[in-house]
Amino acid sequence: MHRQASTAIAVEASPSRALSGSPEILRTEALRKTFHSGSQEIVPLNGIDLHVERGEMIAIVGPSGAGKSTLLHLLAALDTPTSGEVYFARNSLRSLREAELAEYRNRAVGFVWQRHHLLPDFTAAENVAMPLLVRGKAHGQAIRVAEDWLGEVGLAGRAGQRAGELSGGEQQRVAIARALVNQPSLLLADEPTGDLDERSAEAIFELMQRLHRSHQLTSILATHNLSLARRTDRALLLEHGKLAPAGGAKPQGERG
Ligand SMILES: Nc1ncnc2c1ncn2[C@@H]1O[C@H](COP(=O)(O)OP(=O)(O)O)[C@@H](O)[C@H]1O
Ligand SMILES: [Mg+2]
Repeated sequence: MHRQASTAIAVEASPSRALSGSPEILRTEALRKTFHSGSQEIVPLNGIDLHVERGEMIAIVGPSGAGKSTLLHLLAALDTPTSGEVYFARNSLRSLREAELAEYRNRAVGFVWQRHHLLPDFTAAENVAMPLLVRGKAHGQAIRVAEDWLGEVGLAGRAGQRAGELSGGEQQRVAIARALVNQPSLLLADEPTGDLDERSAEAIFELMQRLHRSHQLTSILATHNLSLARRTDRALLLEHGKLAPAGGAKPQGERG
């Protein structure tokens, strides 16, 4: 059972395989998350049933504090639900052992935060290479792979620059490269354009769309930006603990 789950995750982590087999990549069942703040109980997620097919690009919209980050953290196995299940490639994350969960977090999922969480004193290439170095890849090799990714996100030639010296938009490009360097099949982005001006936000969204297609990703982004959300395959509104279709998304079958 555990061996099978681990194999499934290894297979799913390879984008070339991501389009084969079952269309379902991610599913949640009655997902619930509560927090306690003093005597108060906060219920940001109160029965989330989400079904995601391979290759979809989905936007999660909703007011601040609605639970968008909480949901993405549960999908990424960065936090555990109070109740309910997350299935990746039909494996319940709850059934995975710690080593398999680590593999899921590091190989199957790429995560982009609103505030990029780069190490400002390290170079752009070192930041992108970090997930490879953590896995034990040789430094020189890791840096070469990172430089290729920096080229893909439009930062060729900036590899040796300290991350702290880059603009907000450039830092977010580095963060996207870092999220993809292990070639995940699932890209989760938490308000990736939330801290950027309109022009940089547009450029980052276009970059994510391009990478989504060229690397056959399944992408889920939380965003406040309704006009960007409408340009995904499906926009979902998270409110009062529930997910519902948000108005104005591109109809199914018109995926670009
Ligand atoms: N670790 C935590 N402890 C207590 N409350 C939390 C924690 N994380 C989030 N919350 C609360 O859960 C709710 C949802 O937060 P969040 O998922 O960050 O919303 P969003 O990303 O949509 O702005 C908020 O009320 C927030 O204060
Ligand atoms: Mg948030």
